[in-house]
Amino acid sequence: MREQLLAAEKVKAIEWRDGALHLLDQRVLPFEETWLSYASADAVAEAIRSMVVRGAPAIGIAAAYAIVLALRARLAAGGDWRLALEADFKRLADSRPTAVNLFWALNRMRERLDRLKDGDDPLAVLEAEAVGIHQSDREANLTMAQLGVDLIRKHQGNLQNLLTHCNAGALATGGFGTALGVIRAAHLEGLVERVYADETRPWLQGSRLTAWELAGDGIPVTVNADSAAAHLMKTRGITWVVVGADRIAANGDVANKIGTYQLAVSAMHHGVRFMVVAPSSTIDMALGSGEDIPIEERGGDELLTLNGVPVAGGVEALNPVFDVTPADLIDFLVTEKGVVERPDLAKMTQLMCRKRLH
Ligand code: MRU
Repeated sequence: MREQLLAAEKVKAIEWRDGALHLLDQRVLPFEETWLSYASADAVAEAIRSMVVRGAPAIGIAAAYAIVLALRARLAAGGDWRLALEADFKRLADSRPTAVNLFWALNRMRERLDRLKDGDDPLAVLEAEAVGIHQSDREANLTMAQLGVDLIRKHQGNLQNLLTHCNAGALATGGFGTALGVIRAAHLEGLVERVYADETRPWLQGSRLTAWELAGDGIPVTVNADSAAAHLMKTRGITWVVVGADRIAANGDVANKIGTYQLAVSAMHHGVRFMVVAPSSTIDMALGSGEDIPIEERGGDELLTLNGVPVAGGVEALNPVFDVTPADLIDFLVTEKGVVERPDLAKMTQLMCRKRLH
């Protein structure tokens, strides 16, 4: 299965090459495939803020490479480079608030910096750390895909209609995706009849990115308006909702793209199973519950315009871009450390003590 899954890795959104970070510009997909190159941490912070790169694990990976770019510049400038680097950590941490992978990756880079020994080459050590973060996310995707598809096979078998939200695929990770990794594996096993992709207003990660990724793999995919999801659960034989996550609190509450919460409520009502797929770097045991998760609000113009064309005016718009799904609406949380059924504090604590499965 691992070999088949590796062969399914076609799309990439992040490349570290020739001492620069290269990002596939997700603002213009699917009609334009434009790669942008970054040589400074400031520019990467802006790329994260403006969603050139997006998706929780991908943001963390980009930030890790940005620290390498920052270190190179600070070393070249001379003086107290450790002190100067603090400004780069801060700028990157301020780029987006909800996905904890950003802060997790920055912490890992800082911890590695703190463990430097005399004679170490700081740049080489931190570059290896960033590459390690990237590579381990890719590995985590493979493990989660296998665990997730086992659940689908065990709990339903045969041909499934799956529904997903936002984009939790290759574009959002270092590998072939979290939720879309499971969906890709299910397709390889012949378990997928059709995937319904919520369009995911207002940024359209579903219709622009998820549909593009799945269609590119020959997986039958249909785009639907977010507001059609409950109706589709009732009329289209949907058996699983499979989504990613941006931050998971210690009690198992899950922050993900706005609209996920109402999907979970509808899934519970219709007896549709609800699976969250996320690496342990998305779990924030420092936060007791989802109420503590900072929810990003973006500009109202994202709602009041379509492709820059105004569709409403003279009114305020409220644009929270994440919501929190309570743990008791989640059937399975799939991580690279294992699966948690009906997450709660005790199960999450136990999970975090485990080693990765790969
Ligand atoms: O605003 P975005 O596009 O960065 O939001 C992304 C999501 O909500 C994804 O579902 C989540 O990050 C999981 S990605 C593997």
